This record gives sequence, C-alpha cells and structure tokens, in this order.
Amino acid sequence: MLELKNITLSYGETPILRGVNLAVNKGDVVSIIGPSGTGKTTLLRCINYLAKPSSGTIVLDQHQMDYQSPNKATIQAIRLRTAMVFQQFNVFKNMTVLENVMDPLVVIQKKTKQQARDIAAQELERVGLGAKLDHYPSQLSGGQLQRTGIARALAVKPDVILFDEPTSSLDPELVGEVLKVIKDVTSSGITSLLVTHEMQFAKSVSNRIVFMDQGVVAAEGSPTEIFDNPASPRLAQFLNTEHAF
Ligand SMILES: Nc1ncnc2c1ncn2[C@@H]1O[C@H](COP(=O)(O)OP(=O)(O)O)[C@@H](O)[C@H]1O
Ligand SMILES: [Mg+2]
Repeated sequence: MLELKNITLSYGETPILRGVNLAVNKGDVVSIIGPSGTGKTTLLRCINYLAKPSSGTIVLDQHQMDYQSPNKATIQAIRLRTAMVFQQFNVFKNMTVLENVMDPLVVIQKKTKQQARDIAAQELERVGLGAKLDHYPSQLSGGQLQRTGIARALAVKPDVILFDEPTSSLDPELVGEVLKVIKDVTSSGITSLLVTHEMQFAKSVSNRIVFMDQGVVAAEGSPTEIFDNPASPRLAQFLNTEHAF
C-alpha cells in the first residue's frame, strides 16, 4: 500500500538518502533500525514531504508522485492519510491535552468542535489519559506527553502511522508505559512504520525489520532473520553495539 522507490536526498553537498527502496503492505508493522545519522528520520519525513527528495517516487494506494515533479494535491492527499509521532512530542504548550488532540480534527479535517471533542476524548481514553483531558502539557510527564502525541496521531484515523523514536526522549522509567500504548496501537492492525532503538520491542511487535545504513536499506527481513541470523557483518556489528547499552 505504501511504496518508496529509489529515494535520493542531499543536504547541501552531502548525500543523505542514496536510493532507498521500501515497500509496506497493509497491516504491516515495520521497524526501521540503524545507526544515528543514517537518514531514518529523513526517510519518514519524505513520506509527508517535510523533507524533499531530489528523485524517487512514492505510492500510497491510488496516490502516486514522482519527487522530481511534486504535486500539491498528492502531497495533501498523502498527508491526510498519514500521521507522525515525533521524538520530541510536539504538543502545543498553550492548549490542554484535549485541545491538542482536537486540533488536527478541526483545523485539517474540518470537523465540528463537538465531533472533534468526542473523537479526541475517545482516543485519549485509549492511551490511558481519560482523566487528564483538561491538563496542560506543563502538568504532564514525558510519558503522558508522548501518549498525547499518539492520541493526536490516532485521532485523524490515518492509514499509516509513523513513529520516529517515540521513546528516545523519555526518562527510562517512563519508556514502558509508552511502549505498552504503541504495542496496543500496532496490534490493532493499523499499518505502522516505527524508527526505534528498542531492539527487543522491535522484535516483539514487528513483522518486518529494515536496517538502514549510510543512506540505504542495507538489510531487511523477519525479526528472526535480522536479529537471530544477521546476514551481514555490518548488521551484526550494529546489533552488538545496540545490545551493549
Ligand atoms: N534539515 C537538515 N539540514 C541539514 N542536514 C540535515 C537536516 N536534517 C538532517 N540532516 C543530516 O542528515 C543526516 C541524517 O539525519 P537523520 O535523518 O536525522 O538521521 P537518523 O534519524 O537516522 O539519526 C544527519 O547527518 C543529519 O545531521
Ligand atoms: Mg532520527
């Protein structure tokens, strides 16, 4: 349902993505692993055109675009069908938890306030924040902030949800509550792409693992193939350093 073909992108003279190919089927939970600086965040940002590749194509169901001739309507259509959960939460500090989740429903989806409120309250209940609707971000823990971010992503009912290292800014004792919510989301059947350094977690929730290295997909396969039987020395070395932490 989602296909990225031969994506290239440079920042200045530096090539970042050097021909990335990735195909995701409906209902897949794909974890993207790989060293820092290898282009994982950039790749996710290409999907909603926050990062602008110089070449390559994207296909999301019936929407298709060649990055050499970007098309506003297609960008908009793809944005409406995807939602991203950010490393740094990206919640609005001047809005309550409920208002944060309502915001894209009102602003982007043009729902009425009442409709938006009902959906937002339901998604916040789902992530365990039903009692915090009227709290402001300054009154919440990092784990609660990230669960707000997840509720906001879910509320728009995206076809694909993109998680960019959703637990890497959290204090260790708060990681578990967020992983629990992500596990619940990914097992609900929504197509998910998850950039993560939580290897055990990736192994337990994903049906496919993609190893990115130096701007390309260097290996991919089932969790067993990637973690228990790494085909390349580079992958084996990466997994060793991750496990060392
Ligand atoms: N907006 C930007 N401008 C210039 N360089 C960038 C920008 N965003 C990312 N980079 C660089 O691109 C490389 C890949 O970054 P990123 O996609 O964030 O990697 P990862 O998520 O795998 O750690 C890094 O070297 C980073 O410094
Ligand atoms: Mg990143």
